[in-house]
Amino acid sequence: MKSLKLLLLLLVFQMQAQQGGMWIPSLLQGMNEREMKNLGMKMSVEDIYSVNKSSLKDAVPHFNGGCTSEVISPKGLILTNHHCGFDAIQTHSSVKNDYLTNGFWAYKMEDELPNEDLEVTFIVRIEDVTAKVLEGIATLTSEADKQKKIQENIASLSKSLPKESWQENKIRTFYEGNQYMLFVTETFKDVRLVGAPPSAIGKFGSDTDNWVWPRHTGDFSLFRIYADKNNRPAAYSKENVPYVPKHFLPISLDGVAEDDFTLVFGYPGRTSEYLPAVAIEQIVNELNPAKIEVRDKALKVQDGFMRKDNAIKIQYASKYAGIANYWKKWIGETQGLKKSNAIEIKKKQEAAFQDKVVKAGKQAEYGNLLADFEKNYKEIAPYALSRDYFIEVVLRNTELLSVTYKMYQLEQLLNNKGEQAFNDRKTNLINGLGEFYKDFNAAVDEKVFEQLIDLYIKKSPKQFVPESLNNVNIKALTAEVYGQSALVDYKDVRELLTGDSKTVIEKLKNDKAYQLVREMADKFTKEVAPKYDEINLRISSLQRTYMKAQLELNKEARNFPDANSTLRVTYGKVKGYEPKDATIYKPFTYLDGVLEKYIPGDYEFDVPKKLIDLYNAKDYGIYGKNGKMPVCFIGTNHTTGGNSGSPAIDAQGNLIGLNFDRVWEGTMSDIYYDPAICRNVMVDIRYVLFIMDKYAGAKNLIDELKIVHPKQNISTTKIKKLRYKKR
Ligand code: ARG
Ligand code: ASP
Repeated sequence: MKSLKLLLLLLVFQMQAQQGGMWIPSLLQGMNEREMKNLGMKMSVEDIYSVNKSSLKDAVPHFNGGCTSEVISPKGLILTNHHCGFDAIQTHSSVKNDYLTNGFWAYKMEDELPNEDLEVTFIVRIEDVTAKVLEGIATLTSEADKQKKIQENIASLSKSLPKESWQENKIRTFYEGNQYMLFVTETFKDVRLVGAPPSAIGKFGSDTDNWVWPRHTGDFSLFRIYADKNNRPAAYSKENVPYVPKHFLPISLDGVAEDDFTLVFGYPGRTSEYLPAVAIEQIVNELNPAKIEVRDKALKVQDGFMRKDNAIKIQYASKYAGIANYWKKWIGETQGLKKSNAIEIKKKQEAAFQDKVVKAGKQAEYGNLLADFEKNYKEIAPYALSRDYFIEVVLRNTELLSVTYKMYQLEQLLNNKGEQAFNDRKTNLINGLGEFYKDFNAAVDEKVFEQLIDLYIKKSPKQFVPESLNNVNIKALTAEVYGQSALVDYKDVRELLTGDSKTVIEKLKNDKAYQLVREMADKFTKEVAPKYDEINLRISSLQRTYMKAQLELNKEARNFPDANSTLRVTYGKVKGYEPKDATIYKPFTYLDGVLEKYIPGDYEFDVPKKLIDLYNAKDYGIYGKNGKMPVCFIGTNHTTGGNSGSPAIDAQGNLIGLNFDRVWEGTMSDIYYDPAICRNVMVDIRYVLFIMDKYAGAKNLIDELKIVHPKQNISTTKIKKLRYKKR
């Protein structure tokens, strides 16, 4: 009996041990391959990544640097999240042509909409270049010199390593500077909008449901990559043709069952899984609460205006979602870190680490690491907090201050680089700011300013707040800044920027917003940033040594590199979880749940009439199952921001879903991954196709896809027949 229990425990432990991590696709042989096969994968790692033949990686481009997408047709059709395509959809929207509200569908290729600042990047191959990057640094002693040499090596290697003329070499660091990899990439700049469901589907549940399970969002949009006649990257042109991919993902209509293998392939942005406890304490107790409070205030103001005025709602939709997203994430993360006892667990791990260091006789090299972390995190605390306030208040959430900061940079540029640089930047600014002012509403921003400047003065470290702001009357200051500054109006800004550098700077110095930002920014750039950077450099160096030590002393551990916006594989299973005592979450949601959440006319939970009709008629075509329409599912794949739009792939390499979020209890997975409660959220591919086909009638797009039934062995032609019969 006892040994059976032990065996079971061991099994559970092994299963959990196989979860988590974001792995480099070119290095999956060995442990990862074994784990994936254990979890049920039927492919080989060569099917995922190969330099010699087409593989899954050829179907997974980085979407505009921040999201992931996947190619799903031989004509360059790509799928990503609605929230990843949101900016593009919004840019093409107006009160008259409101694609955010109504959706957009190109029923012919001619109707697909070009996008100025949108690109996708494919990985051609990945190579380890660690030895080359670290050449010549062994003899250097200072950290700054080492970093400088490394940067020089990276710059020269990026130029000299072989690639085609239309490709790029990018070198990225892994394990905090313990490994360097080269990525040869191809970037396509003609990417057109093909389809988007209405926000009531693509963003259903909006901010209330964001980061939450159970979820019912059809978070997808469609784009198409265009290339020149030779199938190579090219700037937008009418002559361009649909890109022919090396690989595109077949789509499985079989759906998923609990415990099925899943692989998520994409570009996770940033994680910090190897932070010492003292750093997590700082995040939980100081930095997250400060940032949350700033955004709390900004959001309340914007929300008030958006609910009353539809034009403002369109202007601020994307900005609001952007601010709200991490605001909510930080709240969940803070709670999760507390609830999972992450700090205590890390402290225990650190004690064990310290023992290992002693046992290995490595005190000289690694013995002081943890004490040094303590010292440096204590020292950086006021600078880190002040920096976060500056970033959140000035750069991120008060629009007038952030646009004025660009003027501050313009003055700095003049001082450092001279008249020519000044003029070039000035011209760029004048042209670029049109976009900004199109969505700027001074009345909204004035209220935001009033709230945030108050926080800044009262809560950020006193010693870095400009003296002139001590005892200032906030209301009077606000009225003065927004009443007097030329920067609240695009026309006035253009006038302000007319003339030679002397005239422009003169005018700026008389501007009330400029005076304020200049004082704040001077404090920041002279007293906060340099010291922060200095301590932070020391911390990075400690972190690198700490990582090196763990790689050396914890060889048996599953040490995966933190996310760094490069292509990664994460794998796991479809799995529910227990969020709290006596509560069990199942891993699947259905259209029934959409109707349960339906609030007529609500800006988050309204449901389009056509979707209700399809639901009532149970008209799900070939996409439903047992009379129900699947919507979302969750799994144990370890994902983070940037994984949005990532394909969820089955054991054979078919597309089964589209990653778009994580669950509330598990948002701390960027810092501490707990396999019991960390889950990624995916929209079921059958819901995507159902919306495209049955809701939008975009048969033209469905016809491009390769739909398969791997479990049932039905041919593509048969599926096509079925599809037409079921209409
Ligand atoms: N939480 C998801 C991710 O981090 C989705 C965000 C978009 N949705 C929103 N309501 N802001 O990006
Ligand atoms: N929603 C995120 C994204 O946009 C994914 C996540 O953070 O889980 O990439």
